[in-house]
Amino acid sequence: MMIFNEESPIYDVYRNIRTNIAFAKDYKNVKSILVTSFQQNEGKTTVASNLAIALANIDKKVLIIDGDLRNPNIHLMFNAKNDVGISNICEEKMEINSYIKKINIKNISILTSGKITNKSSEIISSDFMKDIIQKSKETYDYIIVDSHSLSLVSDSSVLSTYCDGTILVAGCGEVNMQDAKQAKEKLTSMGANILGVILNKYE
Ligand SMILES: Nc1ncnc2c1ncn2[C@@H]1O[C@H](COP(=O)(O)OP(=O)(O)OP(=O)(O)O)[C@@H](O)[C@H]1O
Ligand SMILES: [Mg+2]
Repeated sequence: MMIFNEESPIYDVYRNIRTNIAFAKDYKNVKSILVTSFQQNEGKTTVASNLAIALANIDKKVLIIDGDLRNPNIHLMFNAKNDVGISNICEEKMEINSYIKKINIKNISILTSGKITNKSSEIISSDFMKDIIQKSKETYDYIIVDSHSLSLVSDSSVLSTYCDGTILVAGCGEVNMQDAKQAKEKLTSMGANILGVILNKYE
């Protein structure tokens, strides 16, 4: 659980990323952002959450979607329940709005993963999932999508095609150049718009 407060030097990193996303001309149309990494444990959930908070702090309305249906952690990050979420909504084709949770941080809403199923891949590959991300752009300024690591399953490759941009997290020490290159190639081959690489856990 790592939420960096506004005095933390690490928060400055998020201020910089926020500035690029919110103000750079090239990123004007980037509203939905996937956060992924090659291996597990590199810091995807941490980066997704802190980036969302940084955007919320400049009054952007942000929806965080937990697209890691295999190892969901967004609800834990924000002390929310994960009684119902994407997996249920997609399987039962429910109206999503009533399942979006407000949390005690201003401007942030979350959509949790829902129960873990063996259908992650099918759920993520469904038009319903694509629609959730795309339609949410009408209501929120930014959609931040957390996801599973790229190395073994294709979930985040698929999610990258639904999002306007993708941020690749590379945990220093955990990732080697070969992995980083492979991650980039995987995303590029899907046509993902890679916004940048965040070196996380840099000592
Ligand atoms: N910048 C950082 N400095 C130190 N520890 C960190 C940093 N970022 C994340 N961590 C820690 O590393 C662990 C993994 O972080 P996190 O859960 O964000 O990674 P993840 O890529 O989402 O993992 P998973 O693949 O399991 O979903 C957590 O215990 C987190 O608190
Ligand atoms: Mg995670």
